[in-house]
Amino acid sequence: MKATELRKKYIEFFKRNGHREIRSASLIPDNDPTCLFTTAGMHPLVPYLQGAKHPGGTRLTDCQKCIRTGDIDEVGDPVHLTFFEMLGNWSLGDYFKKEAIGFSFEFLTGKENLNIPVDMLAVTVFAGDENVPFDEEAFSLWRSHGIPECRIAKLGRKDNWWGPAGTTGPCGPDTEMFYWTGPKPAPEKFDPADKRWVEIWNDVFMQYKKNADGSFEPLAQRNVDTGMGLERVTAVLQGKASCYETEIFAPIFAKLDEIRGIAAPAERCSSERIIADHLRAATFIIGDGITPGRVDQPYVLRRLIRRAIREGRKLGISGKLFTSSIAKVVIGEFKDFYPELEERQEIIVQELDREEKQFGVTLENGIKEFQKLIDRVPAFVERKVISGKNAFNLYETYGFPIELTCEMAKEQNFTVDMAGYEEAYKKHQEMSRAGAEQKFKGGLADHSVATARLHTATHLLQAALRKVLGTHVEQRGSNITAERLRFDFSHPDKMTPEQLAETEKLVNEAISRDIPVVCEEMDVESARAKGAMGLFGSKYGQVVKVYTMGDVSCEICGGPHASRTGELVSFKILKEESSSRGVRRIKAVIGAAQ
Ligand code: ALA
Repeated sequence: MKATELRKKYIEFFKRNGHREIRSASLIPDNDPTCLFTTAGMHPLVPYLQGAKHPGGTRLTDCQKCIRTGDIDEVGDPVHLTFFEMLGNWSLGDYFKKEAIGFSFEFLTGKENLNIPVDMLAVTVFAGDENVPFDEEAFSLWRSHGIPECRIAKLGRKDNWWGPAGTTGPCGPDTEMFYWTGPKPAPEKFDPADKRWVEIWNDVFMQYKKNADGSFEPLAQRNVDTGMGLERVTAVLQGKASCYETEIFAPIFAKLDEIRGIAAPAERCSSERIIADHLRAATFIIGDGITPGRVDQPYVLRRLIRRAIREGRKLGISGKLFTSSIAKVVIGEFKDFYPELEERQEIIVQELDREEKQFGVTLENGIKEFQKLIDRVPAFVERKVISGKNAFNLYETYGFPIELTCEMAKEQNFTVDMAGYEEAYKKHQEMSRAGAEQKFKGGLADHSVATARLHTATHLLQAALRKVLGTHVEQRGSNITAERLRFDFSHPDKMTPEQLAETEKLVNEAISRDIPVVCEEMDVESARAKGAMGLFGSKYGQVVKVYTMGDVSCEICGGPHASRTGELVSFKILKEESSSRGVRRIKAVIGAAQ
């Protein structure tokens, strides 16, 4: 079964079972300061898992674009990916274990579904610990579907507990489903340590909330959160050892062969896999409005592109741009399900070409410089180190992401003085990359009163910017902490002091008018008729929340918000700066959060 068919079957199955299909959210989390990227299907749904009402109802299903960078250094081996798609179904206080396990079993084994023989399956359930008891219910449910006891492993928190993504939030025991990929028949007894049993699906029963003090309390609403990795399951069902061997990657590799002028090799190597993965990820990230830059998502994007370019050099590609031709293949393959890729094709191509040209110029010189550093160290020196200062110089002057320097150093048995590098970097940058790295670790959105108000301020700010600068201004990112808001928007030039003052004034006027913030649910067509912003990529018939603040702002948004603009008290812009090419960034505070 091909990936597109699996995706379709999954969504159709859950739709038949009363679920509403929702669109994949952006890869860039909206209003979550703790995460750079959407890492799981549940991520954009956190407010609803915590009790907010979802306009699509209490049963949802989707295929969500995800990026996980935690294992980025492992990419190149046959299994790791940075970008992947996650199929999921959710119950928001609707059904719980019985139906969730029933749906999973039916989808996996049903004739018209995946038709997997039961004897190829095994599962794990939560064994219990000092805080939460053994998940006997899940165990019995699997038994009732005919999974023998020897195919049900009871495992601890490390294996059968999911979330919270950050330090606090919804979480719970899970049950994972495994498929036998070794020679048939599958062994009678399930051994979770045997790598030939591959995990294909995870049902999380979110019934607890982890508090800041480490304690768990039952959630008011019991949810189901499930995740099935599309690429992995496609590979498994096709009997392939790696997702890189499936049709998902075939056209990308074919293009790469064409660029290199070679016939398809019998096996793909690590460089080819890195190029395919990283450029697929980069295409989707640019498709969600990010352009290469120095911090946060723009930095990760730059790192992915530059690493792909370097691997391209290793394969002998030089003297021509190649990244955008790979991106065009990715766009062609995915545009039907992710129309935003085609809509932004021109920008994707332009940004990749630009980054590749820019990096290409300095790459050769940087490699020479790097080699000089290596050659300077006599062979008899045992601990071979590249100093922090030199590593920083490679970054600053030659555009080498530090990870690239580390990787090249490792190839020659050198290490990099990371502490020294960080120090040099910190001196140079307002925000250290170390801080950005923290955000990879994940977390859940904070929906305190202060952030709700800052969220409202963000809508007012966008409306003001469109008045002052023009309607080309569009949100490119938003990041809110309890103290401040940060808003990225499309605009080519630095704002003048007058424009900043005018923007501030307009927001403060809206605050002093104490306008009620009205939330309405409606379908996309009605939202469009109302002139709501944020329609980009919405699907026909989809139900959305529209927040209106008098005649000032009308935007589609998940919320939550202040109930009246007056709650914000006052608004002040702290800083206006460049975020990445063509994107400006404003940091601002409100009186109520100071
Ligand atoms: N949120 C769960 C996961 O990512 C389903 O595995």
